[in-house]
Amino acid sequence: MNGKIMQKRILITSAIPYINGIKHLGNLVGSQLPADLFARYNRAIGNEVLFLCATDEHGTPAELAAAKAGKPVAEYCAEMHDVQANLAKGFQLSFDHFGRSSSQQNKELTQHFAGQLAKNDFIEEVDEKQVYSHADGRFLPDRYIEGTCPNCGYDKARGDQCENCTKQLDPTDLLEPRSAISGSTDLEVRDTRHLYLKQSALKDQLNNWIDGKIDWPVLTTSIAKKWLNDGEGLQDRGITRDLDWGVPVKKGLEDWTGMEGKVFYVWFDAPIEYIACAREWEDAGKGENWESWWRTDKGAQDVTYYQFMGKDNVPFHTLSFPSTIIGSKEPWKLVDYIKSFNFLTYDGGQFSTSQGRGVFMDQALEILPSDYWRWWLLSHAPENSDSEFTWVNFQQDTNKDLSDVLGNFVSRVTKFCRSKFGEIVPAGGELDERALKLIEEMQLKFDAYERHMNAIEIRKAAAELRAMWVLGNEFLQSAQPWAVYKTDPEAAAAIVRLSLNLIAFYATISAPFIPEAAEKMLRAMQLPKAKWPTSIENTLHTLPAETSFTVPENLFSKISDEDRQIWEEKFSGKRGA
Ligand code: 2FM
Ligand code: ZN
Repeated sequence: MNGKIMQKRILITSAIPYINGIKHLGNLVGSQLPADLFARYNRAIGNEVLFLCATDEHGTPAELAAAKAGKPVAEYCAEMHDVQANLAKGFQLSFDHFGRSSSQQNKELTQHFAGQLAKNDFIEEVDEKQVYSHADGRFLPDRYIEGTCPNCGYDKARGDQCENCTKQLDPTDLLEPRSAISGSTDLEVRDTRHLYLKQSALKDQLNNWIDGKIDWPVLTTSIAKKWLNDGEGLQDRGITRDLDWGVPVKKGLEDWTGMEGKVFYVWFDAPIEYIACAREWEDAGKGENWESWWRTDKGAQDVTYYQFMGKDNVPFHTLSFPSTIIGSKEPWKLVDYIKSFNFLTYDGGQFSTSQGRGVFMDQALEILPSDYWRWWLLSHAPENSDSEFTWVNFQQDTNKDLSDVLGNFVSRVTKFCRSKFGEIVPAGGELDERALKLIEEMQLKFDAYERHMNAIEIRKAAAELRAMWVLGNEFLQSAQPWAVYKTDPEAAAAIVRLSLNLIAFYATISAPFIPEAAEKMLRAMQLPKAKWPTSIENTLHTLPAETSFTVPENLFSKISDEDRQIWEEKFSGKRGA
């Protein structure tokens, strides 16, 4: 590439994790981790990036988790936010801001959007009947009412569905209904008024918008289209709830008659936090002009916006949130590209929080540095189908890719150089045929790597990166500097010089996947800052002769069979959570 690369402005959001509890590796690989890969890559190639995530703090699950922990919900959320923020740091997730959907900024913006939607006639007020529990002093969401299924007699059917016979239910269908919170049967059906977002009125606009997204992953568009056009098609959606914890229902700054004591539904305010988070970022003094990322009348017309999420989140991001934005009739930015993921399964089953089955973010970091997890998860990202985590596969792949290939290359080259030439890039000799061929092949793989990274084809990008590590190893194996040195030290010096430069090159291009190891490699090569390669040939002269370096500590240790067995047993869930 010649000349100056045009800097692009890239906005990236990851689906915001629920506040209640620590996320497992399946959650991580379905949103935050790939979003981080893409953010790191874009910064590395010189783009201006704003990468945002937050905790999703409202809704009944947050209230119940706080009650279980015996804490006021606001306190519980503040604590869990810090726990999740620290785990994100542990995994090297490079958010520009990790916000909170319970922030004042989100409250204001959520109420503002509701006001706009009402003004533009996209809100309908609907009277409904809902179950009220006297003992709990609250309305109960459908799934917090239990009773006997009228269809099959199962006595733990939930108010929304019987999990025994799968029949969809209304809470009023249940025989002998009781509160799932307290077990109380002192329940009453009461009238309550709620707001509905008239998504159906936006159906054609949404259809046209999605039809224009020809480059979106099939997983994203097929889910969106199914919800838009299957069966009864796009339904209007209730956006308020009878709960205490949440954003109070208001029309902008104005009170909303009949909506006193109600809050917005968590799925209404959660995506608005993507926007509010940018304002939190500015208010925290981390940047300025947040609106230039979000308002197309204030600079965001040149922003490209990417969202990352699991497939279960797709309907909310292709239909509900765009309805909020379009219905506001204000120039807010709509997403340009939605990267969605299938699920990661765990050893032949599901990850399960309640059964303690699978590996959770805190446990993962207790046993291994984040790069092992990042590499394995990203190189097995569930892009085209679900993928499965097994310990055997995790052990095999990380041992091979990280230890045998990359780690081994770095260690052999630096140690050999130290023993023969000292900790200094050796001078002398010239690149031979074999070296020139390596550069040529590396260039092809690097071009493919960049293409896949730009297209967010993560597994393919990982495969090219691995292939570039392998090329270096094969080169070293066939060039045999240790043998050449005996008869021609200058020729050996040229091989070693090229290989040391390959370490610097690997550090730079691998950093989006394995930032910690990349940093160690850069430090060993005494490069303060990585510079993204344009031509491989030029890049492989980054370290001229006579530059000093240090032999890095071992980059990766192998996972032993014994460790694997211990972990397999420990995380099987057999011992409970
Ligand atoms: O599935 C989840 O974890 C949700 N908390 C994602 C919300 S994404 C968004 F809309 F903010
Ligand atoms: Zn049933």
